[in-house]
Amino acid sequence: MAGTTHPTLNDIPESTRGQVIDLLNQRLADAIDLQLQAKQAHWNVKGSQFIALHKLFDEIHSAALEYVDLLAERVIQLGGIAEGTGAIVAERSELPQYPINISSGEEHVWALSNALASFGERIRQAIGETDELGDADSTDICTEISRGVDKWLWFVEAHAEGAARTQARA
Ligand SMILES: [Fe+2]
Repeated sequence: MAGTTHPTLNDIPESTRGQVIDLLNQRLADAIDLQLQAKQAHWNVKGSQFIALHKLFDEIHSAALEYVDLLAERVIQLGGIAEGTGAIVAERSELPQYPINISSGEEHVWALSNALASFGERIRQAIGETDELGDADSTDICTEISRGVDKWLWFVEAHAEGAARTQARA
């Protein structure tokens, strides 16, 4: 990751901007992965809760796309290059790999809960990191995303029943 690459009159010190850019590019890779995982779930889920989960997973995909845009455009505003290609995301994402051979609602609820919880943990860390670096606007963006992710995790986990709920937490 390259830090600042483009000049800007933005008054945040360049060293701060460089560190925030690198940090946000890492979270950008995770957010793009989350967005793809939500579509994977949307397409492949089957079972008695199909229509509810099919719609919910697509809503999560749309929300994740907004997070992707917020993170990428903040990187540009700070004088950096948004690094959002498939090759970079595949190499850099810190989210667990989405399981391919699953189909039941229970399995997709478990898998997408894991993805949301993992992304939520990382974006929450970014709230503290950007705050320490003194970039309140990036902190605000990460907080907004974190609030959204916590809500989606609640929505998905609310579909887990009995044993599946305990398993998701294990
Ligand atoms: Fe669709």
